[in-house]
Order: sequence, then structure tokens, then C-alpha cells
Amino acid sequence: MPAKLIDGKAVAQQIREGIKAEVEQLVASGKEPPGLGVVLVGDDPASRTYVSMKEKACRAAGIYSEEHALPADSSQEKVLGIIEEYNRNPKIHGILVQLPLPDHLDSEQVLLAVRPDKDVDGFHPENVGRLWEGHPRFVPCTPLGILELIHSTGVPLKGKRAVVVGRSNIVGKPTAALLMAEHATITICHSRTADLPGECRSADVLVAAIGRARMIQGDWIKPGALVIDVGINRIAEGEKSRLVGDVDFEAAREVAGYLTPVPGGVGPMTIAMLLRNTLTSARRAQR
Ligand code: GUN
Repeated sequence: MPAKLIDGKAVAQQIREGIKAEVEQLVASGKEPPGLGVVLVGDDPASRTYVSMKEKACRAAGIYSEEHALPADSSQEKVLGIIEEYNRNPKIHGILVQLPLPDHLDSEQVLLAVRPDKDVDGFHPENVGRLWEGHPRFVPCTPLGILELIHSTGVPLKGKRAVVVGRSNIVGKPTAALLMAEHATITICHSRTADLPGECRSADVLVAAIGRARMIQGDWIKPGALVIDVGINRIAEGEKSRLVGDVDFEAAREVAGYLTPVPGGVGPMTIAMLLRNTLTSARRAQR
């Protein structure tokens, strides 16, 4: 039987409608709407697209948003200055610095400058530490979205073997922390893992976040496994191009129990979780 596909677009839409209703209630009760401050540096087209999608989603949910789009050669001080403004602005409950930043900027220092209680991306070391120590405040959006999709299947995580391929701070590491918190036994794999196919084959839950088009083969997947494909890779196809994940979708479909498509799987969830984190932040600030 082919894998059941997990419809991230539908799950995300439902969550976004719920958030919209909550924002309406908040505003009806006399509170300020949640506000998101965005910093985009440079002109990477993918980052530009993501930021536009995030702002559009804010508008649709009744969340206020502001953007500072800076030229690629902006100084560290300029970026830090804008973050400082957002830190102080009471209308802004969430701050998002779109990554990656241009090479000449010190990303670590930029992320440290974001007030931890406005860090809706969950990238500040204080929030990273809180996640691993078991008292999360803000959890990064893509990992949260992955967890929601797993929950939507009803497959329990307790005692399962979960393998995360990719060790990034944005996806791999925080996803592993969340899966462990739900009592899965976690393995984090990466480019130097000795037997990647073998590790993948041991997974009841496999999360692919490597950024290499269709790297995970059908015969790397345990029959019936739940497979989450975080990859968004643009590949040439004749005159055109199209998006594919980190998993060979057609092959995986014949083996997996559940599978996320690309596009329409994890992607839409990231934005829904950003809205949720921003709403949560506003509620905490307005208590
Ligand atoms: N770049 C890739 N993913 C993300 C994300 O979730 N947040 C931000 N700020 N930048 C990203």
C-alpha cells in the first residue's frame, strides 16, 4: 500500500484560521494586535520570497508586521541598531532576522542581540538552552511544524527510533530535542555519518533536513516508517525548474507508511508556527 501523504498545506491552513480567530478575540478585548518585526539583509531571492510570504500570512491573520530591508553591504552596527529599535518597540512582540545573513556580518552576535522574550524564531542561545533543558520558551518554527505534522498522523513517538538527518541549528538539532522530549530515542546524522543508509533504515520516524535533492533513497527507508521531508531544492528540468525534497519521493512513497510531499508538506507549517509564536509572545507581554 502506498504511503499516506501528510497534507501540510491543509494542516497549516487550519492552524492559521485558528490563530486569526484568536487574534480577533484579543483585539475585541481591547488589546493591541500581535506585532512582528522583520529584518532582511541583502537580495537573496529565496529569502525575499520567504519574508514576503511571512508578512502576507501576518496580514491575513490580523498580525501587525514591519520590515526593514537593508542592502547587502549593511554594517553590523546598522543591523544591531534596528534590532535594538524592535527590542524597545512595545508594538513589536516578535523579531525575525531572516537567515542566512551576508558573510561579512556576525550572525551569532546578531542573534544574541534579539531580546529573548521577543525571539519568535527561538535562535537566541538562551532559548536554545531552555529547549534542551526541558523548559522551552520559543521553539524554532520549522521543528515545531514538523512535530505538528507528526501529531496529525496520530502515530505515537514514545519509545520510537527517530533519526534526524542534518545537524543545523535551525532544523536538525531543535527537531531532535523535540522528538526526545516526546520520548523518542534520537540519532542525529550528518555528512560524516559512517553508514547513513543503515542509520536511516533503523528509523521508525525519519526526518530529512540535509539540503541535498532526493538524497534519501527508497531502500534507505524502513517499511511503514513515518518520513518527514524538510528539503526544498530547486532542480533544473529541461527548460524549467521544479522543487524537490531531500527524499526520493516516488521511491519513498512505495515503502513509507506516512510521507510529506514537497512542496505542500513542512514548508507551509513553518509560517503557521511563526504566527503562533508571535501570538504567544503578544499574550505573554499583555498579561
Ligand atoms: N532561514 C531558513 N529558515 C529560517 C527560519 O525559520 N527563520 C529565519 N529567520 N530564517 C530562516
